[in-house]
Amino acid sequence: MAVTVKGTILVTGANGGLGSAIAHQFASKSELSAYHGLYAVRDTSHAPVLTSALAHGATHPYDVVALDLTRLDNVRVVAEGINARVSAGEIPPIRALILNAGFLDFGKQTWTAHGLENTFAANYLGHWLLTLLLLKSMDKQAGRIVVIGSQAHNPKDPRNAMGRAFVDPKYQTIVTDAARFEAISKGSWSPDASFQGGFRRYGVSKLFLIMMQHELQARLNADPTLSNICILGVDPGTMVSGLQRLAPWVIRVLIHKIIYTALLWLNPNNGLVRPTSGAAADVLEAAFGTQGGELPKDKYFDGRSPFETSEESRDTEKRELVWKETVKLAGLKDGETVLTTWQICHGKSRMVRVPRHDHKYVRLFLQRIGGNEVWVSQIPVIPAHQLAAADKPDWTGLAISPVMVLNDRVAESEPEPGQQGGRRLMPQDSDKLEMKT
Ligand SMILES: NC(=O)c1ccc[n+]([C@@H]2O[C@H](COP(=O)([O-])OP(=O)(O)OC[C@H]3O[C@@H](n4cnc5c(N)ncnc54)[C@H](OP(=O)(O)O)[C@@H]3O)[C@@H](O)[C@H]2O)c1
Repeated sequence: MAVTVKGTILVTGANGGLGSAIAHQFASKSELSAYHGLYAVRDTSHAPVLTSALAHGATHPYDVVALDLTRLDNVRVVAEGINARVSAGEIPPIRALILNAGFLDFGKQTWTAHGLENTFAANYLGHWLLTLLLLKSMDKQAGRIVVIGSQAHNPKDPRNAMGRAFVDPKYQTIVTDAARFEAISKGSWSPDASFQGGFRRYGVSKLFLIMMQHELQARLNADPTLSNICILGVDPGTMVSGLQRLAPWVIRVLIHKIIYTALLWLNPNNGLVRPTSGAAADVLEAAFGTQGGELPKDKYFDGRSPFETSEESRDTEKRELVWKETVKLAGLKDGETVLTTWQICHGKSRMVRVPRHDHKYVRLFLQRIGGNEVWVSQIPVIPAHQLAAADKPDWTGLAISPVMVLNDRVAESEPEPGQQGGRRLMPQDSDKLEMKT
């Protein structure tokens, strides 16, 4: 009997400890095996852990995809291929995008061919771009994106005290300005070749991922077609996996392979070390769980317990700074993502809705630039009947700048006599706008 494929799931780092445990659950559980798996690994010709995890899933349809997150050209090619397959109806829309791949150098810093620090590029930048590009293929009603976080994202988390990576006050605040972002991306921030240096680089990559979680959810919420997509985070806790492969012998063998493995064997629920199977179940709960019936937007869990992420990760101005710098670094261009709000600086902007004569509404994102309020970004059209009663436009008192910035084009409109640099927005104004729908 032919199996009806329920949706697509994509897991990055699928040949690793947690990634392969997630794949195993899809292959072995009847309620999950009808999803089409896209398992991303760096080397498709050598993914033995994934192969063995999938060995017993006779009915589970899947493809193994080659993806190196440190190469943005590769990320673009992979996303383009997936988008083409979803558009053609070859595979269903993505129900769960699980950003699991992770890298920790444990001291020996390395760089990409383009001079970016590898931990930053693999854990954060590649995932950020992949997500923005794949929004096109997400299931618009039930799609979920799951970020794999870590306690390392917060210098002030007491659990990080023993490693002493963040003791120096200069490492307690991570995001300050664009120059700091550049230093982090290029590896001149925390450059020391010690375990502490590597752990900080790892921590900041996780901080940026969690900032992306909060920031992207806010932007999805403001998008007319993507607002039901949820992005969540899960800290899987300490696991014995491949993440320690570059660690010194004491950490890699003595602590992880001997002590932690023994602890797990003696008591799988010891609280200090978690089995990858249990962590995989936690990730799948975030991706598929009903979470009390509400859309689990922007939730973050330690395992399955709700957890408040660091103060810096929740700071909207810092998040916006990181978003803007990331857009530049990833070279995201108009048309590459379906997210209409990708260019918005929402921290200093507001949104209004303007009625048009044809009973549709346009959304204007207004931003104060150089003392003027300007219209920025793409403007989707929303049929009037889709607007809730409480969502009625309130636009008539609005004074706007004569400069309209739309999709990088600048158009002039005439200021009214006696009004310097602004005038009232009238219904007919909306007809002058060029719109992308
Ligand atoms: N283990 C822990 O104690 C722990 C604690 C908290 C959070 N986490 C997080 O859990 C997630 C899973 O890690 P894990 O413990 O399962 O470690 P793992 O066994 O090392 O798995 C990580 C996977 O990421 C892949 N990867 C690394 N760099 C990549 C790149 N540039 N492009 C594409 N894939 C790349 C690796 O691919 P290759 O197989 O090709 O090397 C590997 O399969 C990570 O996000 C990690 O940060 C782990």
